[in-house]
Amino acid sequence: MTSKQQATSRKIDGKKYSLALFAASMVLMTACTPKTAVAEGSKTISAEHLAAGKTIFENSCARCHALPDPTAHSAQDWVGIMNWMAPKAKLTEEQHSLVYDYVVSVKK
Ligand code: HEC
Repeated sequence: MTSKQQATSRKIDGKKYSLALFAASMVLMTACTPKTAVAEGSKTISAEHLAAGKTIFENSCARCHALPDPTAHSAQDWVGIMNWMAPKAKLTEEQHSLVYDYVVSVKK
């Protein structure tokens, strides 16, 4: 292989790599979308769902600090806060979503 050919194939590899990265970030974005979508379409969330979230929130989130004020943070901030706090509170994926949906529903 001449050095020119090598340079060309490296270029193609680089392109493939960035395409893969792009695809991966699309998957990540899609994976995150449902949570936000659920929050925005809060009309479709049942009262039982929110009540369950409220119970988990009150029981799990006041152990280390005062119970946070749900309206003190935006829905966007709560995504990050919950990603940070859910493991501390040892919440399951489902409990994580329930609490998130509850705190965001208070905001609206
Ligand atoms: C194991 C202990 C622990 C549990 C359980 C816990 N937190 Fe926290 N939380 C912390 C610590 C530590 C901080 C950081 C305090 C600081 O540095 O000011 C914090 C900070 C916060 C903040 C402030 C973030 C900011 O940007 O100012 C919020 C809001 C919060 N927690 C929400 C929650 C929620 C909601 C839950 C329940 C899902 C929860 N926490 C459960 C330990 C905990």
